[in-house]
Amino acid sequence: MEQFLKEVLRDLNQSPKSLNSKYFYDEAGDKLFQQIMGSVEYYPTNCEMEIFKTRTKELALTLKNGFAEFDLVELGAGDATKSSYLLAELHEQGADFTYMPIDISSSMVNYLEKNLPNAIPGLKVTGLNGEYFEMLQKAYAISSRKKVVLFLGGNIGNFKPDEALDFCKRLRTLLKPDDLLLIGFDLKKHPRVIRAAYNDAAGYTRDFNLNLLKRINRELKGNFILSQFEHYPSYDPSTGACRSYLISLTDQVVNISDHTFHFKENEYIDMEISQKYSVEETDAIARAAGFKPIAHFYDSKKWFLDTVWSGV
Ligand code: AVJ
Repeated sequence: MEQFLKEVLRDLNQSPKSLNSKYFYDEAGDKLFQQIMGSVEYYPTNCEMEIFKTRTKELALTLKNGFAEFDLVELGAGDATKSSYLLAELHEQGADFTYMPIDISSSMVNYLEKNLPNAIPGLKVTGLNGEYFEMLQKAYAISSRKKVVLFLGGNIGNFKPDEALDFCKRLRTLLKPDDLLLIGFDLKKHPRVIRAAYNDAAGYTRDFNLNLLKRINRELKGNFILSQFEHYPSYDPSTGACRSYLISLTDQVVNISDHTFHFKENEYIDMEISQKYSVEETDAIARAAGFKPIAHFYDSKKWFLDTVWSGV
């Protein structure tokens, strides 16, 4: 809460104004993201699901990489729908592993610890509730076994490219040479397809963005008038940056707690980036961060990539 207010005040005092999309996910935001995933336009979830459903055996073999035992750590596990296919396959192959889902939501972690062993009898689950890096360190403290780390869903796309590289470098400092990292990247493709995915006809993406203003109103004593802001999605094929803005429709003043912010007519708030990559760009990030790309798994349309990187 404290951190939320601090960041919102800082980001709205900058020029240009921005808000951090990591704050999209309150209860209403979670629901809207579910609706986005269920829309016909939003393809990334279905693409990655296809990879986990149809390439499960090869994924399992690649991630075991000849090791008898390991821990499977997932950053931002959510409800683990995609990874549960992999868990079932590894379990069936008799792999000796513990699944360690990391999530910022304690109810999600509790849910996984309780329900996954019912769905996959005998599966060992150790949930870790907290921030990625802190909890990953905890995973190493709990067990010295080789780690296989999953970072799915194209969540890395919410970093700008230089931040994504820094994030991977930071991960590399924690991982050991034998460890593996599987990262999901949304790939560059026809701009029309990308733009539609972030501009669905039902307006879920618009509401997803506006919901952060609502959250600020409720949690930080704000008085944004939502109808005075318009969602503007964009995709730039030359950089691969897919961005969401909220445009102020008038000259207006907004208060948050005891702070005042002026918005000019047509001034924007930079809300979210969902960066798209080429395969070559993901390989370059791997190498620049000190990893080696060892496998590439695509969906049948080659719209999404789950790539496996080793620590050497
Ligand atoms: C959850 C970060 C993968 O960027 O595609 C969906 C979030 N934003 N529609 C994405 C999102 C707008 C999503 N990620």
